[in-house]
Amino acid sequence: MFLTTEYIDILNILNEEAILLDYTTPSSKYRDDLLKKYDKKLQINKNLNRSLISFQANKNEPFYRWFKFKEGFSTSFVKYILDTFGNPFTGQTILDPFSGIGTTLTTSIENGYNAIGIELLSPGILATKARIAAKKVEVRKLKTNIKKLLNLNFENENVPKHYFFNHLNITQGAFPEKTELAIANACYFINTQCFDEDVKILLKFAISSILEDVSFTRKDGQYLRWDYRSNRVLKSNFNKGIIYTFTSRLAEKLNIISSDIELYNRNTENDNYFKLIQGSCLYKLHDIPSNTIDLVITSPPYCNRYDYTRTYALELAFDGIDNKVIKNLRQTLLSATVENKSKFLELEKFYTSIGKKEIFKEVITSFYNQSALKEVMRNLYLNKKKLNNKNIPNMVINYFFEMSFVIKELARVLKPNGKIIMVNDNVRYNGDEIPVDLILSEFAEAFELNTDIIWVLEKGKGNSSQQMGVHGRKELRKCIYVWSK
Ligand SMILES: C[S@@+](CC[C@H](N)C(=O)[O-])C[C@H]1O[C@@H](n2cnc3c(N)ncnc32)[C@H](O)[C@@H]1O
Repeated sequence: MFLTTEYIDILNILNEEAILLDYTTPSSKYRDDLLKKYDKKLQINKNLNRSLISFQANKNEPFYRWFKFKEGFSTSFVKYILDTFGNPFTGQTILDPFSGIGTTLTTSIENGYNAIGIELLSPGILATKARIAAKKVEVRKLKTNIKKLLNLNFENENVPKHYFFNHLNITQGAFPEKTELAIANACYFINTQCFDEDVKILLKFAISSILEDVSFTRKDGQYLRWDYRSNRVLKSNFNKGIIYTFTSRLAEKLNIISSDIELYNRNTENDNYFKLIQGSCLYKLHDIPSNTIDLVITSPPYCNRYDYTRTYALELAFDGIDNKVIKNLRQTLLSATVENKSKFLELEKFYTSIGKKEIFKEVITSFYNQSALKEVMRNLYLNKKKLNNKNIPNMVINYFFEMSFVIKELARVLKPNGKIIMVNDNVRYNGDEIPVDLILSEFAEAFELNTDIIWVLEKGKGNSSQQMGVHGRKELRKCIYVWSK
């Protein structure tokens, strides 16, 4: 690949020697300067706290009790943001470029806004579609189909092969044999005997949402953890507790789903505009016209090594994704794991192909001018041997590199006076805090956004904010950034 000298220069930021040569100043100088710059903007918001904004706050709410997605927002958080910054029933459009299970989207639509979401992974897409279907499905049809499904002979061996669970290497052996057969029978039924699109989505979603419960695995941070009862050779004797039978769990889940739907279903199509786009927001944002979005409410992946494709491997495999596709998806995710490779050339190619090379250059320049980030990188490279994975520096640089493109595109699609509300956590590697909130706010300002405020969430239990100070040396800041155009 031919690279012009200006790009070779920029690529140097990915090169540790260049960073070591450039920076010989004390190791936190640039971050301290940044903290001073944003000192007055960092403010505790007493109306919000960690559990209120996260999925935990939803635990017993309809829909949320259908599926555990602990990376999600709570509806009350989205409602709070809409009440604070939105203007309902005036045709305003809300965008979430990392829409997950669609909390921003459904809450916005229900409260009188249009909504656009972008999400890469199918479990989030299916969950969002199920939430939409739940509001408009014909309850009678749903109940009839549930009854038929639950009366099925789940031990019928006469199921065409392609209805069987299509395992990935990392899910192989995740279910007892009887469960595999039962899943195949349920899928066969949905595909051949169910004729209503909303009902199909809800039944498929019900199965997807019980996969973990009926498997030998448990979602556990970065990986699926395997129970001792599986056929896998394991180092530990992990016991996940009850492994449910497919039929009992499905019956329970469908009961919950249909009773929630009976209470909340309006059986109407909502008039508000709604669009759900599957793909990477690094590319899909480009399809949204400039100056059309009133409010962005989002939470990107955090720079914390969390891998959505491993945590949601069962649900992805259920959607028919194979080993090759999952590998690609892992690379397409916003870089936040040590496995992610640089998307530099890919993004360069993309912006060139759409005739917007000047945007690529602008982003690269502001990225290259971020001193605190270079300082973070320098420290990481200097202490590379002490890190528990040698790819952490690459992950960090890739994360910020990609986020700078996301922010640039969000700034473009936002209407003048529009706002971006972003939830994100700071991270720490080797004891060195990375002020993700401040670095990203500097990127935002480079793209002509204004940092109105950075709401800091109060510290966890037992640590009063007075004791630890707003800038919390010990506990990492969890923040909500408010940027405006
Ligand atoms: C923190 S979660 C957002 C959860 C969301 N706020 C909700 O309430 O469900 C981040 C989401 O970003 C998605 N994601 C990661 N990389 C992406 C990309 N390049 N494009 C679009 N979505 C991506 C992940 O699959 C995940 O669902």
